[in-house]
Amino acid sequence: MECTLIAYYSWSGNTRQLAQAVHRIVGGKLLEIKPVNPYPTSFNETLRRAREEIDAGYKPPLETKLDSIEPFKVIFIGSPNWCGTIAPPVASFLSSYNFTGKIIAPFFTHGRGGLQNMLGAVKELCPNSIVLDPLALHREKLSSAENSVTEWLEKIQIKRYL
Ligand SMILES: Cc1cc2nc3c(=O)[nH]c(=O)nc-3n(C[C@H](O)[C@H](O)[C@H](O)COP(=O)(O)O)c2cc1C
Repeated sequence: MECTLIAYYSWSGNTRQLAQAVHRIVGGKLLEIKPVNPYPTSFNETLRRAREEIDAGYKPPLETKLDSIEPFKVIFIGSPNWCGTIAPPVASFLSSYNFTGKIIAPFFTHGRGGLQNMLGAVKELCPNSIVLDPLALHREKLSSAENSVTEWLEKIQIKRYL
């Protein structure tokens, strides 16, 4: 029986790198969240679509499906900062399953904006979960991702839950 899930969305690869670092350290199931309609390769077009979707509260349908969230006690959830919040496919994922009573460990990558409302967005979508303090890593700090992940896991005392 599995008990740890690491689910992430990544458009340009940074959050994927961070997810892989988390996976190397904690193991479990690594799951890439993919929308049915992928975002364009152009930054400006992706930004335009992201803004529209976020403003409308739109949650794009996902190609990624889990049979059940039940086997997972701890869910690491990864997102890039998009317009100050989580990317819409991550919002879709968090709206697709019942996370009641689950431990949610959020990890984010970002540019100059930092954490902004990403944690708030996760908490809003998982009101009945235990949401741990997040790791928010600047995209220029990915080369030391493993150290950052290790420090973060100690800080949130993840061993209590695994
Ligand atoms: C559509 C879009 C919107 C973004 N908005 C923000 C933002 O508001 N604040 C910020 O700090 N970074 C922003 N970024 C930068 C990303 O958060 C950052 O590059 C992140 O590491 C990308 O992760 P990824 O490679 O997994 O997609 C944005 C990037 C994109 C593509």
